[in-house]
Amino acid sequence: MHSLSSTLSLVLPLTLFSALRGAKWTYDDGEHHWSKHYPYCGGAFQSPIDIRSELLRFDPTLRPIEVQNYNLPPNEQLTLGNNGHSLQVSLPARMFISSLRHRYAAAQLHFHWGSSGRPSGSEHMVNSKQYAAEMHVVHYNSDKYPNISSAVDKSDGLAVLGVLIEVGEFNPAYEQFLKFINGIKYKDQKVQVPAFNIRALLPTRLDEYYRYDGSLTTPPCYPSVLWTIFRNHVTISQKQFLALATAMYSSNSQDSAHLPLQSNFRGPQSVDSRIVLVSFKEDDLFWMNGLLVPVVVISALGFVLIASLICCILRQKRSTAEQNKSKNVAYNVGDRDEYGSRV
Ligand SMILES: *[C@@H]1O[C@H](CO)[C@@H](O)[C@H](O)[C@H]1NC(C)=O
Repeated sequence: MHSLSSTLSLVLPLTLFSALRGAKWTYDDGEHHWSKHYPYCGGAFQSPIDIRSELLRFDPTLRPIEVQNYNLPPNEQLTLGNNGHSLQVSLPARMFISSLRHRYAAAQLHFHWGSSGRPSGSEHMVNSKQYAAEMHVVHYNSDKYPNISSAVDKSDGLAVLGVLIEVGEFNPAYEQFLKFINGIKYKDQKVQVPAFNIRALLPTRLDEYYRYDGSLTTPPCYPSVLWTIFRNHVTISQKQFLALATAMYSSNSQDSAHLPLQSNFRGPQSVDSRIVLVSFKEDDLFWMNGLLVPVVVISALGFVLIASLICCILRQKRSTAEQNKSKNVAYNVGDRDEYGSRV
């Protein structure tokens, strides 16, 4: 009896713990286990990806991104929250993307970042370069679905604008919400903050971007996202990055151990048969897009040809000169004697 009850008292909390853990997910080693509870995470069309040059295809039909009602008045309130996985800002549905096939209404924006020791935490990479952080502005197809919950698992449900963030110049637009970050240190904390111009969080140029079909980068990883990653990054200061990377915890305020909320990015996923469309065409792309190799080979062949021609001409000249020399030996020796006698 005693042994049964002690076994039960040991097993029950463990199973309860596992049951609770089943609904949870984490980064680091954790992301490799996501597919056990969230099968889509192990499926196709996953995000993020490493946007490598050989995946790119220029698409002249990709219009500049146009956003509407992004300039919110300061008398309006936005909810800034810590959901245990990220810092999130709620957005009103009257904000929308107007340049896609459907209207996509805004729902929220959130971030992925590194740590103070390793400030590389973007999810998307460009030619294997990982940026310090990344912002995702999440929109849902409001032409077809009444809210984000009904759109999130549909193949044409979501459109996300991705902004790569590097540490550099101070960014006053990002300060609009970062200055309240100490109010959301713990999981499930929320504060109301004055609204501001969300457009100012995006890079200046909205016409240059990468486009591909992918997924949510967190469980349940639905392959429902039309991704737009802007070509140009934005900057935040070192101090702003450290605020983002060190102020928050992924645990509740009541929890005994406080886990820092950092390095909350998913690693690059397999590209499979996908290609990445690009809205811009320029020299970089021309060189990288398969033309570099033939151009280098042809140039090298040309160089070898010219070099051997020069060699041939020089050799011919030298042998002619040698023939002349041997004819004039007596004269040359006499010359040398004249100079030698001066020393
Ligand atoms: C979203 O829309 C669906 C379908 O109309 C509805 O059943 C659901 O309650 C809505 N959810 C929210 C959170 O408003």
